[in-house]
Amino acid sequence: MSANLPRNFVIIGCAGFIGSHLLERLLKDPKNKVIGFDMDTSKITDLMSCRNFALHQKSIEEGMKDGSLARAVAASDVVINLAAICNPYEYSTRPSAVIRSSLFDALPIVDLCAEQKKWLMQFSTCEVYGRTLSSYVPGENYTNPDLYVQVEATTPLVMGPIQNQRWTYASAKQTLERYVYALSFEEDLPYTIIRPYNFFGPRMDYIPGRDRDGVPRVLACFMKALLDDEPLQLVDGGLARRTITSIHDAIDSMMLMFAKPEAARNQIFNIGTRENELTIRELAERMRAIYAEVSGNKARANHPIVEVTAQQFYGEGGYEDCDRRVVDASSAHERLGWQPSRSIDEILRETIAYYYETYGQEGRLARAV
Ligand code: UGA
Repeated sequence: MSANLPRNFVIIGCAGFIGSHLLERLLKDPKNKVIGFDMDTSKITDLMSCRNFALHQKSIEEGMKDGSLARAVAASDVVINLAAICNPYEYSTRPSAVIRSSLFDALPIVDLCAEQKKWLMQFSTCEVYGRTLSSYVPGENYTNPDLYVQVEATTPLVMGPIQNQRWTYASAKQTLERYVYALSFEEDLPYTIIRPYNFFGPRMDYIPGRDRDGVPRVLACFMKALLDDEPLQLVDGGLARRTITSIHDAIDSMMLMFAKPEAARNQIFNIGTRENELTIRELAERMRAIYAEVSGNKARANHPIVEVTAQQFYGEGGYEDCDRRVVDASSAHERLGWQPSRSIDEILRETIAYYYETYGQEGRLARAV
């Protein structure tokens, strides 16, 4: 490997879902050194004693105040910022916190990287595209791919009105992307922006009532319902469509970026699996079928699915859904050679088995002995 490849990593948000998987992969190579920042360590307990890992258990604000973040950035080859509140329920129930964490908290990190000319890998979201143009054209119904396939350099970013607070996260991330791009333009900040498309896998989110209370994203909502024998709730009929990507395929894309910095720098990448598209209703149906297989509880294959309105589910705060996310990931393919390989069923089987082992009947028995 070339001497110029990154070996010193700073990961902000190293103990979240994506962070914990990235950390696990990086620490496997003893030549890599990682400095992590996070406040909650529950997803990385197995990694805490790794000799090539140093954790600062603190917020970005604390890290800025005591100088530890600036020192870590100075010692790094690449800074990966994953910190954000990435959960639609919170966009409309805690909108100001979402804007603060996704935009204002991130700005000092961008500034530090610009001052020190350090490579910043900033996580954004596929949600910056907002709704598809197709959804605004009466009768169009996804016949014209130019109106719904999302391409980094050409697709417009379409947000709804201010009262629809769903867009707090997307607009904060859009402004952050624009700030990163502006500093690259004005001050030669080296950057990579990643727009993830529904990464799924073990350790995603949390199970309400077990890990903590709240309303997580759809995978964990459906898991809780299956574990606790409650109906799966489909918001507005479950017509929205998503493209699902394995967390392992996603981490592969980052490893390729580290292996090919020249191809990855100063780029925006959609990271998603176009073949893995399904409606949320189909997701509910597949999840209950796979849960029945994994748990051996055959009745779960016909587990009840009920419909609820967005207002009933998300409250009065102004929820508006992303109708469809068809990813064009040809830039990641052409520049990095990235080719995601895991199918929807493979991803769901791995993830459901993880949750069932951790929280289901077998998990409970294992913990009891
Ligand atoms: C969220 C974030 O907002 C994105 O920024 C992020 O990229 C994405 O997750 C991700 O995981 O990558 P979204 O897919 O809308 O976006 O979040 P979910 O909460 O997982 O909702 C997906 C769909 O399921 C929505 O249509 C939602 O209304 C529906 N849903 C959710 C249900 O029908 N039932 C539930 O119990 C929960």
